[in-house]
Amino acid sequence: MKAYKSFKAVVNSKTPLASVFEVLDSSSGQVQSEQKQGSIVAVMTQKELESDPPEWYKRSAENDSFLADLKKTKSAWIYHGNNRILLATHDDSKETTAEKKSKALRSIAVKTTQALNAKKVTHAAFHISEEFDADNINQFVNASVLTNYKYNKKEDVFSPDTTEEEKLEKTVHPQLLENIQFCTPQSLSESQLSETEFYITAAKSALFGRDIINVRGSEADPDFMEEQIRNVAEGKNNITDIHMIKGQELQQQGLNLFYNVGKSAQSDPRLVSVYYKGNPESDQTDYAIIGKGLTYDTGGLNLKPTGYMEDMYMDKGGAVAALGALKGAIELELPVNVAFTFGIAENAIDSKSYKPGDILTSLKGLTVNVGNTDAEGRLVLADSMTWTQRKFNPNHMIDLATLTGAVMVALGNNIAGIFTNDDEFMSKFKIAGDSVYENHWHLPINDDHREIMKHDIANLSNSGKSRYAGSSTAAAFLENFVEKDTKWVHCDLAGPAYLDKPFEAMPAHGTGFGIQTLLKMLKDH
Ligand code: BES
Ligand code: ZN
Ligand code: ZN
Repeated sequence: MKAYKSFKAVVNSKTPLASVFEVLDSSSGQVQSEQKQGSIVAVMTQKELESDPPEWYKRSAENDSFLADLKKTKSAWIYHGNNRILLATHDDSKETTAEKKSKALRSIAVKTTQALNAKKVTHAAFHISEEFDADNINQFVNASVLTNYKYNKKEDVFSPDTTEEEKLEKTVHPQLLENIQFCTPQSLSESQLSETEFYITAAKSALFGRDIINVRGSEADPDFMEEQIRNVAEGKNNITDIHMIKGQELQQQGLNLFYNVGKSAQSDPRLVSVYYKGNPESDQTDYAIIGKGLTYDTGGLNLKPTGYMEDMYMDKGGAVAALGALKGAIELELPVNVAFTFGIAENAIDSKSYKPGDILTSLKGLTVNVGNTDAEGRLVLADSMTWTQRKFNPNHMIDLATLTGAVMVALGNNIAGIFTNDDEFMSKFKIAGDSVYENHWHLPINDDHREIMKHDIANLSNSGKSRYAGSSTAAAFLENFVEKDTKWVHCDLAGPAYLDKPFEAMPAHGTGFGIQTLLKMLKDH
């Protein structure tokens, strides 16, 4: 399945920018980018370049087109012997805020990484000048790693006599970086460096998630998802329990809502629970993280029309967010206790399919009228939430789901909607998201929304009486399955989990959205 090759990205604080320039300045210069197709990216401020221009820069600046290029794109290639250097500048002439500077560095990281990819560079060293602080650098490494990604199912077909060099030249897709060194200012402390490493691991966890979201529905069925979860968790440090409820067991144990959604698919629905115990001193479960993992959403008997169904292999984006966070937590050995629950099912159709008008009893006991079989995510989540809270009694619960089209109507593609019963907890979650440039916006659940989800025969309806405020009414439905003392955030990431066109460091299609937010939140716990 692996579409992207994993690559090495390391932080190196021992090689200051100046030493690169020394090499450049000597006429016989051999830049230490020893490897084949290696490149150096020098990231500097405009002021730095103008106030004390290095010799190699002066040489290039004699060339008008170089200067014009640099002015226009803020970056330019310098060829030096066998090496090439991509100079990228940050314009610090105007007053700016720390946040704007970090944002600017992210965009430099995106552009330079894309430039390296376009030139099929495999090994690169980014030398980041002393003018940038730890925050700037964290954002830089994060955005660069996130950019070095391409989901690719194209086979390169060559004739038997094509040489290796010709192959590389003819390869239709960009060659990704295999080895990245981020050479950071020497002034960074040990703890700042380990923070920078966090931003690399978080980004790599997101890349891992993208590869899973992008696998199409017939390949990525519930069996496939279970396998991915087991690959991440089995035999790993701090994993104390893996538990599964599969197929008819769901019904036998009372998870009727969940079972009904998935029962007509070839591959059985299943709840998979993984316990990560990073803090063995405590017997509390700090967090439960629950993901909607619909491997394909046809809509069920309320079948989605053409134009709305094709991308629905991405309906597992919430479960993938949870899985990426689990992978990152294991790698980072985060000292928290987290119960991960994956609600895995395929919303398919056959003669046993659940039907509009059915009244189902949830694990909690509340009855639900199925107003629409396409509002399936909330059914899977409702039972998953009840089961998880009963088993682990978590202090905090986060559910993540590609839950509604309505959240995209409200917020567009680049912001997730968040809902909560605890503003303080939500605010921590949102701040964690901000620091990795995953945007969330707080949307309300009020009595009006709650009223819409009530039914005259059953306790609840899964589709509601109104077509307005679809993401708030979905959240109001889920709220019924939150226990009294659980602090809860519901994250509807239907927009940012999957993009039609790239946005900042996010590619088109599966983005891995949510993984980094969760990791930052767990790390800051
Ligand atoms: N998986 C969809 C939501 C979705 C839509 C995600 C588009 C990503 C892109 C969800 O199961 C769904 O179909 N929701 C319905 C609910 C309605 C029937 C109450 C919706 O949003 O239209
Ligand atoms: Zn649906
Ligand atoms: Zn769905």
